[in-house]
Amino acid sequence: MKVGMHFGCRETKFGWFLHFKNFFFIFVVIKNSINMAKEKTIYICTNCGQESPKWSGKCPSCGQWNTFVEEVVRKEAPMAKHVAHGIESVRSKPQYLKEIVSSDEQRMNMQDDELNRVLGGGLVQGSLTLIGGEPGIGKSTLILQTVLRLTDKKVLYISGEESARQLKLRADRIPHPEESNVLIACETSLEQIFTNIKNTVPDLVIIDSIQTISTENIDSSPGSIVQVRECSAAILKFAKETGTPVILIGHINKEGSIAGPKVLEHIVDTVLQFEGDQHYMYRILRSIKNRFGSTAELGIYEMRQDGLRQVSNPSELLLTQDHEGMSGIAIAGAVEGIRPFLIEVQALVSTAAYGMPQRSATGFDLRRMNMLLAVLEKRVGFKLAQKDVFLNIAGGLKVNDPAIDLSVISAILSSNMDTEIETGVCMAGEVGLSGEIRPVNRIEQRISEAEKLGFTRMLIPKHNLQGLDRKKIRIELVPVRKVEEAFRQLFG
Ligand code: TYD
Ligand code: MG
Repeated sequence: MKVGMHFGCRETKFGWFLHFKNFFFIFVVIKNSINMAKEKTIYICTNCGQESPKWSGKCPSCGQWNTFVEEVVRKEAPMAKHVAHGIESVRSKPQYLKEIVSSDEQRMNMQDDELNRVLGGGLVQGSLTLIGGEPGIGKSTLILQTVLRLTDKKVLYISGEESARQLKLRADRIPHPEESNVLIACETSLEQIFTNIKNTVPDLVIIDSIQTISTENIDSSPGSIVQVRECSAAILKFAKETGTPVILIGHINKEGSIAGPKVLEHIVDTVLQFEGDQHYMYRILRSIKNRFGSTAELGIYEMRQDGLRQVSNPSELLLTQDHEGMSGIAIAGAVEGIRPFLIEVQALVSTAAYGMPQRSATGFDLRRMNMLLAVLEKRVGFKLAQKDVFLNIAGGLKVNDPAIDLSVISAILSSNMDTEIETGVCMAGEVGLSGEIRPVNRIEQRISEAEKLGFTRMLIPKHNLQGLDRKKIRIELVPVRKVEEAFRQLFG
């Protein structure tokens, strides 16, 4: 009896445990299925942000290959709802355009002429600005030195990359007024950032960098397209609602697009790109998109031990070297954006020692250089097929202006013949496939820049003479129509 009872007792205990186990199992299954219902896998194009329920090799929207990446998102994440509400709430009664009262945007003076110019006259209240650039180019330095100078503004600098001590060390290297008003918060959670903002009520918010920030409402990791998009949409909403300007710092990936999101470019008001070669000291701040100003503006900086210095007259810096008696150097009157400056183009042509001749270009498109070499070969009859050709734009700058073609050709010819181009001579002109010198834009600006720097002779395309008021021009203008003419003018 005792034994039986004992067994019975055990059975019931075991049965209860089985029941519990079953319940637990069912609970886990239900919980998982709820979670599964919430989570969704989508594919997003890293180039244009197109969403698709399934992976495909070519993006149907932008036509790029192999750009779809898998992202896990929660269906109806609270943040998505939040944002959707934001969009709905702006629905309002249509107004006639003529009835809308226009007023100038209020702009914040950034105490930095170059930055102000690129922004179109200062930072607009309630705007969202993105500063993109490769890692290590100096984005954090630029923004930190700028906010340190804004002594009358309360700035909240959110750093997701560097510790407060690292930022302090960096700030110590940069000369700045004692009474700076910068608050530092090392934070990566979007919710915490908003709490910080609520508690401090800053005049300007900096987020360094958007790729390190994440919201708890989405499961994917920081830096993923979904995170970056949701976080920036929430930040945009905050900026518009409170009128507080926000500057986002974003890294650019190898392909040159701002990491992951081209999507980000659509969301923000202004996109500035900070570029330059890390091994050189010059940096260019370019405006790619600006809802409040022109995209033709350009800012130039020089990276120094104690931060970035504004370069207000780039030509003077780029042309400091004395190159009298040196062959292979030609000075070009270039325009980047709407800013004219003179730039030194250097070429070296030497006999190729083995087989395939080498061709290399720094700061200039190699394919364009090859095209110009082909023009020289075909139209002017220079035999460059067995020569190594190296081309370099001084100062580590990258120039996209086609008007420097003429100086590229001249520098190559000068080096090939080992004959220098007279000092005091500069040039501007695009070279066409048949060796013709094509007209360039903003010729007056190029000429006056050359005059300002004391140049005495300038080769320009013949077509550009039309409409030019020559009475005002002191520099000797040499109009050229073909590469051969330019060659005769330069080398006799
Ligand atoms: P940083 O602003 O950290 O680049 P990013 O934020 O774009 O990643 O710049 C880092 C580089 O700048 C680093 O290589 C050191 C250099 N630097 C200077 O040359 N001088 C300075 O005064 C400072 C602060 C940095
Ligand atoms: Mg940085």
